[in-house]
Formats: sequence, structure tokens, C-alpha cells
Amino acid sequence: MTLFETRELTKRFGGLTAVDEASVRVESGELVGLVGPNGAGKTTLFDCVTGFLEPTAGEVVFDGVDVTGDAPEAVAREGLVRTFQHSRPLGTLTVRENVMAAARGHPGESAVGALAQGESVRDRERVVRERADRLLERFDLDGLADAYAGRLSGGERKLLEIARSLMLDPELLMLDEPYAGISGETVAEVSAYIRELNDEGTTFVVIEHGLESLVELVDRLIVLNEGAVLADGPAEEVVRDERVVNVYTGQPIET
Ligand SMILES: Nc1ncnc2c1ncn2[C@@H]1O[C@H](COP(=O)(O)OP(=O)(O)OP(=O)(O)O)[C@@H](O)[C@H]1O
Ligand SMILES: [Mg+2]
Repeated sequence: MTLFETRELTKRFGGLTAVDEASVRVESGELVGLVGPNGAGKTTLFDCVTGFLEPTAGEVVFDGVDVTGDAPEAVAREGLVRTFQHSRPLGTLTVRENVMAAARGHPGESAVGALAQGESVRDRERVVRERADRLLERFDLDGLADAYAGRLSGGERKLLEIARSLMLDPELLMLDEPYAGISGETVAEVSAYIRELNDEGTTFVVIEHGLESLVELVDRLIVLNEGAVLADGPAEEVVRDERVVNVYTGQPIET
């Protein structure tokens, strides 16, 4: 079943076309990589589908619902949630408070859906806190729950960002460069969590800059170049596609 689709999605900034009639489709349960060189339009595409930017043209359909131009909160309520390339945890809040804050502005979200109408703010706060603590345990951040988020390492921030997004119970989670600024062991750790969540049913689109880095992780790679979809298919095939290789090595594309 198709969970997510863009139809000829376009975003222009003045004379610059950042996303150029991009049509992509994600099936329910898939783990898809979205790659492309610097400035290819990956983040802008995420911004347009999650309500952070208004697309210039085209459509975004999620779970059979046209969400084109909907506000971020409305899109998240449908189950489409994203993380940010440059995540900024609130340094003056603790790690737990950061995770709890993700549920704010989403009254009645599934994170707190156990609450019947009329229950008190305190009950809601308790449910949110318990949920946050379970997520912190899951990502092995429970020992840091009371530390200020500003103190976290790069890898811990990436995990915090994922924990925050899970407070909204996403059906599709879009991660913008979850590996940026982290290395070695932490990369493997983040991959293991993504795989585990995917096995449990969360659909993923993961942005990465590099071509080879997601091959082991994803079912499928979509390559964006100058805002347009250049290739889309099984990862092992896409990384060998001559046109894709040319984009990465700076060779001209023959058309
Ligand atoms: N708010 C904006 N105003 C004007 N131009 C923008 C804006 N945001 C992005 N751009 C331009 O749109 C193009 C696509 O940028 P985008 O950030 O989406 O690329 P990206 O694929 O995410 O790149 P990176 O790998 O560096 O994160 C770039 O040329 C960028 O300079
Ligand atoms: Mg980007």
C-alpha cells in the first residue's frame, strides 16, 4: 500500500528551483534513502511535505489524504513526522523535558491518547512523562534524563531528536541526515535503532549526503539532483547507475 506520495512537487525560491517536479512514492513499511549532493533539494523536499514550507506547485498525499500546504502540526497528526538536519535541543531544558516538550501543541495525540476527555492537566503531564521516560530508556539516554540537553554529545543529540519525534507516534518518520557529525560506533547504533523501529512497523525516509552510506541500511534509494529525481530503485543498482556516479564525481550527465 502506498503510504506517501509527492506528485510533481516543485519549490522555487525566486529564480532558483530547489525542488523540480519531484514525484516519489513510499510504500507502507519501507525503509527508503533519499540521497543527493549538496543543494540537491533534499531538505527543501522534507520542508515542503511536512508543512514547514509552502510548495510552489504539486501535491503531497499521505495515507490517502491530500496534506499539501497543511501546517506542520496537522501533518504530524496524520502520522508524518520529520527530524531536522541541524537539530537544536533546548539547552536550558533537561533531556526529559526536551522529549516531553515534543508532545506539546499536540493535545489528544496518541502519545497521550490513553487519556479520556475531562482528565486533568496533571494526568496528561504524568502520561507524557512516563512515555518520555520509556523512550529515553529505549535509546539508553535514561542516565541523562535530568542533564541539560546542551551538554549532550553529537550522537546523543541525534538519538534525542529521534526520541522526540517518536513522542508523536509517526507512521512515517523522515530523518534529515541522522549521521551528520557522528562517527563509528554511534553510526552503527543509530542504524540499529532505525532498523529496529522499521521492523516494528515504522516507515522511514532517511536523507544522507553520501551515495554509499545507506546501501546496507535501506531497501531502496532515491537520488535527487538539482531538485529532480535522477534515479529510484534498489540501492545496489542505483549506486552503480552511471548517471548517479557522474553526479557524484562531477562528470557531465549525458542526456
Ligand atoms: N530558504 C531558502 N531561500 C533560498 N534558497 C534556498 C532556501 N533553502 C534552500 N535554498 C536553496 O535551495 C537549494 C536546495 O537546498 P537544500 O537545503 O534543500 O539542499 P540539500 O539537498 O538539503 O543540501 P545539503 O546536502 O547541503 O543539506 C540550494 O540551492 C539552497 O541554496
Ligand atoms: Mg539538507
